Amino acid sequence: MATLLVLHGPNLNLLGGREPQHYGHTSLAAINARLESQAQAAGHTLVCFQSNAEHDLVERIHAAQGSASVAGGTMPGATAAQQEAVAFIIINPAAFTHTSVALRDALSAVKIPFIEVHLSNVHAREAFRHHSYFSDLAVGVISGLGPQGYELALQAALARLPVN
Ligand code: DQA
Repeated sequence: MATLLVLHGPNLNLLGGREPQHYGHTSLAAINARLESQAQAAGHTLVCFQSNAEHDLVERIHAAQGSASVAGGTMPGATAAQQEAVAFIIINPAAFTHTSVALRDALSAVKIPFIEVHLSNVHAREAFRHHSYFSDLAVGVISGLGPQGYELALQAALARLPVN
């Protein structure tokens, strides 16, 4: 059994009501619930975390290495499952996609494979959304398929889990 981590960046807590022409009508809670049940059906644990704060996302990525490697020993407020080493990350960095060297460096440091997901097709939008600080490090990138993108990323992640 592996633990997978789904990370959502800023403003994705507003999904469902936020600019539905770009992001659709599905809430973040509904996306997370589907992912959790699909991972569970495959015999794995999936943990979701959303934050509007860059430092919280950096800390969560550090914690994904497992409790032993986190400064202070544990991630405050994390459950036992969240303390486990994470085998794979699915991340929608949202606006941090286009700005965050800190998040890029965190993913690079922990060396956990990850898939980058965007609900909207960032390449069909403003020029500033065309650059990502993550794509060259990612196993793959899914953009423009709405909530289904997360599910496709989960399928791909499950197929790539290390065999114990
Ligand atoms: C997004 C695209 C980003 O450009 C934007 O800042 C977001 C969401 C997406 O899922 O399409 O907040 O990552």
